[in-house]
Amino acid sequence: MSIDPQKQDLKIGIVGAGAMGRGIAQVSVTGGMTVRIFDTAEGAAGAAKEFITSMISRSVDKGRMEKNEGEAAIGRIRVAKSVEDLADCDLVVEAIVENITIKQKVFQQLEAVVRADTIIASNTSSIRISSIASACTHRDRIAGLHFFNPVPLMKLVEVINGTDTSAEVTAALQVIGKRMGRVPVVVKDAPGFLVNLGGRAYSTEALLIVSEGVATPFQVDAIMRDACGFRMGPFELLDLTGIDVNFPVSLIIYNGYFQDKRLSTFPLHESMMEAGRLGRKTKAGFYAYAEDGSIIRPKIDETIAAAPARRVVLAEPSGALDGLLRDLGVNVLAADDGVSPILADPIGEDCTALAVRLGLDSKRLVAIDTHTGVFSRATVMAAPGANGEIVLSVMAMLKAISGGVTRIKDNPGFVAQRIRAMIANLGCEMAQIGIATPEDIDKGMKLGLNYPLGSVELAENMGSRNCLKILEELQKITGEDRYRPSQWLRRRALLDLPIHTPD
Ligand SMILES: NC(=O)c1ccc[n+]([C@@H]2O[C@H](COP(=O)([O-])OP(=O)(O)OC[C@H]3O[C@@H](n4cnc5c(N)ncnc54)[C@H](O)[C@@H]3O)[C@@H](O)[C@H]2O)c1
Repeated sequence: MSIDPQKQDLKIGIVGAGAMGRGIAQVSVTGGMTVRIFDTAEGAAGAAKEFITSMISRSVDKGRMEKNEGEAAIGRIRVAKSVEDLADCDLVVEAIVENITIKQKVFQQLEAVVRADTIIASNTSSIRISSIASACTHRDRIAGLHFFNPVPLMKLVEVINGTDTSAEVTAALQVIGKRMGRVPVVVKDAPGFLVNLGGRAYSTEALLIVSEGVATPFQVDAIMRDACGFRMGPFELLDLTGIDVNFPVSLIIYNGYFQDKRLSTFPLHESMMEAGRLGRKTKAGFYAYAEDGSIIRPKIDETIAAAPARRVVLAEPSGALDGLLRDLGVNVLAADDGVSPILADPIGEDCTALAVRLGLDSKRLVAIDTHTGVFSRATVMAAPGANGEIVLSVMAMLKAISGGVTRIKDNPGFVAQRIRAMIANLGCEMAQIGIATPEDIDKGMKLGLNYPLGSVELAENMGSRNCLKILEELQKITGEDRYRPSQWLRRRALLDLPIHTPD
């Protein structure tokens, strides 16, 4: 037996009136439901009510909400003086300190006062729902309801199924999530749930790229923003969330998946933590920050003091390079003249492997990432010992059609292919192990992290075979298990099936 989530006067209890509890209370009352909010700290629930009142009044002033609707919403918030005051709630959402022992105690207190059919949900970001439920008597009504900060602005909510959560409870929470104006996704009770797990690839692969000296944090960010459409580069994002938050989360998830190398982070991350360079909050991270907290981006001089290459030879046939060189009016020689740049656009291969495979003069070989795109920002790389003037002439040639040209060190998959393939591979693996449906994984990544594409659909966008090839090359060249392709991706790529095809 479960509650009727559609009923008009649904009552929601909220335990914990901090940043998250306030937000959850706000979206509940603006969604037409009644809220009782409780906090053990003296005056905290009252302060939360005042805060929500001011937020709703501001929405009314800005014309986003009718005056009478705003007043009615404010009238539906009550301060609870004790846990007992939550006795008649249909749903209680816990949003207290992230500590399993204290959460279990609160769940036991709640079970002792609420009705048998009341749903009790936790907003925990890292504790397993089944671990909290293990202290409870009626575990089928315990679930996760994981919101994102700031709640009123972040549309996503993860409905997390504990081991014993009943199907009715999951369905009811989806309905209530929608009534709160959120987009619910149903997620398995596993480390990092959906969004925190799916977000690991972007930052950790970027940290590894910088650790290997392939590019600087600013170059990586510029490539991911300009060429791939991410709103923020991985290092801006690491700084914004705070290294003291994302480093421990990375460890929890890595260890939660029993040291799966695909999820590992790197010593550079820990060094930043140890140095207290936590990002925006300490006004020092990968970036420097002004007194008002605004980011100071280092000025990168992108002028290229070289004459553009006019004649080139192709390492191997490439439709993308043919088209690009035609547009640029560059002459493509039929045979190597021994002096012109040799151009290639490898998928997953580095210049060194390419030069050896094709028996090319590595000093004149320049690789361009046409698979990610060259117009907003082009990326080029060359093997160690390459002729600097030749590389500059190719960069000058690209500058004519590109918003910026970044030179990185030789490396399998450039920057963008590598990071995008890792995001897509993790998305596919999440689909394989049933973290959520592939469609919900995509929704989660777009709404929870503002990614331009969901991580599963990213594999389709890159071409699933290309994505698989990048990972296979990375795995072959580096010998790292980190690049092990997901079987979900491998099967759909080899069978040429749409990436969302169910098993
Ligand atoms: N802040 C985020 O970005 C974020 C995002 C998603 C999930 N979460 C999770 O939400 C929960 C709350 O986070 P927050 O950022 O709102 O924390 P917060 O510190 O802002 O607020 C926690 C509130 O809980 C109260 N509290 C502590 N123990 C209590 C108890 N036994 N009974 C009643 N009230 C109690 C505190 O007085 C405080 O007001 C945590 O589990 C956190 O992991 C946080």
